[in-house]
Amino acid sequence: MRHITSITDLSTAEIDELILLSREIIAQPQKYENACRRKKLATLFYEPSTRTRLSFEAAMMELGGQVLGFSEAASSSAAKGESVADTVRTVCCYADIIAMRHPKEGAPTVASLHATVPVINAGDGGHNHPTQTLTDLLTIQMEKGRMSDLTVGLCGDLKFGRTVHSLITAMCRYPGVRFVLVSPEELKVPSYVKIPLKRDNVRYDQTTDLCSVLPELDILYMTRVQRERFFNEDDYIRLKDSYILTPEKLEYAKADLSILHPLPRVNEISVAIDQDPRACYFRQALYGKFIRMALILKLLEVTV
Ligand code: NCD
Repeated sequence: MRHITSITDLSTAEIDELILLSREIIAQPQKYENACRRKKLATLFYEPSTRTRLSFEAAMMELGGQVLGFSEAASSSAAKGESVADTVRTVCCYADIIAMRHPKEGAPTVASLHATVPVINAGDGGHNHPTQTLTDLLTIQMEKGRMSDLTVGLCGDLKFGRTVHSLITAMCRYPGVRFVLVSPEELKVPSYVKIPLKRDNVRYDQTTDLCSVLPELDILYMTRVQRERFFNEDDYIRLKDSYILTPEKLEYAKADLSILHPLPRVNEISVAIDQDPRACYFRQALYGKFIRMALILKLLEVTV
């Protein structure tokens, strides 16, 4: 039995297999429509979510399986003081696979230690978000046709943005990837995320100025400032509009730039950009369903 608490739980070869399987599902969805008949996915979401929870649930439904769960801690026994360990032991009696989102870093790892079914981390605090990274990698493969030899700009809240941490960890394994980390001084990538970059001599540059690096980028990964992780509302207000991507700024970007965003968007991408063919973020949300279908098949060891 496998759990996915970090993107490092998957080898590069396994990620490539999941991307291949997602593309097969996209090409022939009807082939998979009964693959998970009688299987149940539990979504245990202790934090708000739109795309992650609904794409997990849609993924299981499109595989012919069923879903159960809760979408806020207040409607679960967590509100009565139940531990993650006890909740997970219980849910294992009812479901074949679990996707968990939790505000505390490491909660899905704790869950995995007590689970008798696979546990998938659907976002833990400001730490990791491996299935968003799988989504991002499928999007990059679909848009760019490759994962290597790319200059990837990550912009916004690189400190608390868990999707950024997992994406850097995954992409630094592909050859010829260079990162440009764009953030305010206060929201720089934590040093633990940079360990593999330093270890493997992956090129990265850090700057506070998006406009000066925009022309170099093949991919621009925008993120929102993570209000819920701030200790101080004044700091959030000061930093929230540090970067706003507008059509004027995009004039300096490559014609084949791919703009990604895990969503939700607050202010950081002007809605005027949504019509630009370089805007990939809503396609990205769709790809999230297909890669989660592939991941569920893999973890439940279902072959079609
Ligand atoms: C992200 C998350 O929850 O970390 N959203 C998502 O899962 N698509 C990004 C965010 O909330 O800013």
